[in-house]
Amino acid sequence: MPRSKIYRSNAEKQRAYRRRKKGVAVILRSTKEEWETPQEIFDPLNEEFNFELDLAALPHNAKCSAFYTPVIDALKQEWQGVCWLNPPYGSQLRHWIKKAYESANKGATIVCLLPARSCTTWWHDYVLPYAEIRYLRGRLKFSGATNSATFPSAIVIFRPASTV
Ligand SMILES: C[S@@+](CC[C@H](N)C(=O)[O-])C[C@H]1O[C@@H](n2cnc3c(N)ncnc32)[C@H](O)[C@@H]1O
Repeated sequence: MPRSKIYRSNAEKQRAYRRRKKGVAVILRSTKEEWETPQEIFDPLNEEFNFELDLAALPHNAKCSAFYTPVIDALKQEWQGVCWLNPPYGSQLRHWIKKAYESANKGATIVCLLPARSCTTWWHDYVLPYAEIRYLRGRLKFSGATNSATFPSAIVIFRPASTV
């Protein structure tokens, strides 16, 4: 049976397709930015490090009482003290890792939850030579997510003037 024709022209059909595609992209991007740390991962690390500042958060998902948000823009702030970082996993990820490395060189401790992307340039430039890496067993199920992540994760620790 032929499919019913719901568009008046091919151009209209194309426009509808682009709108749908854009909608899906926005959903994927926002999901990726908001993957919240499971409490059972955060709590033992907090016991160990006693975090003072959550570098990437919104009021409803902040892990510390002091936190930076997109409005303040953590990438434009000083990172000092003992910081927790589960950054947005978008195209800016490299900038977050570079800043974590630089901040540790200035005396901060930055503990990160990261996708274990050992093939990326940021992993080779900053993580491998300068950080302590704790690979997580299995795949994380981020808070509020229905399924486990499709990628492995690691806790990456930049200590003051770190030279692991
Ligand atoms: C992966 S979530 C982590 C949330 C929470 N801190 C945690 O550990 O579960 C990343 C958070 O960073 C926020 N974010 C995005 N860009 C930011 C920026 N430039 N400065 C500060 N926070 C930002 C996002 O809104 C999001 O809530």
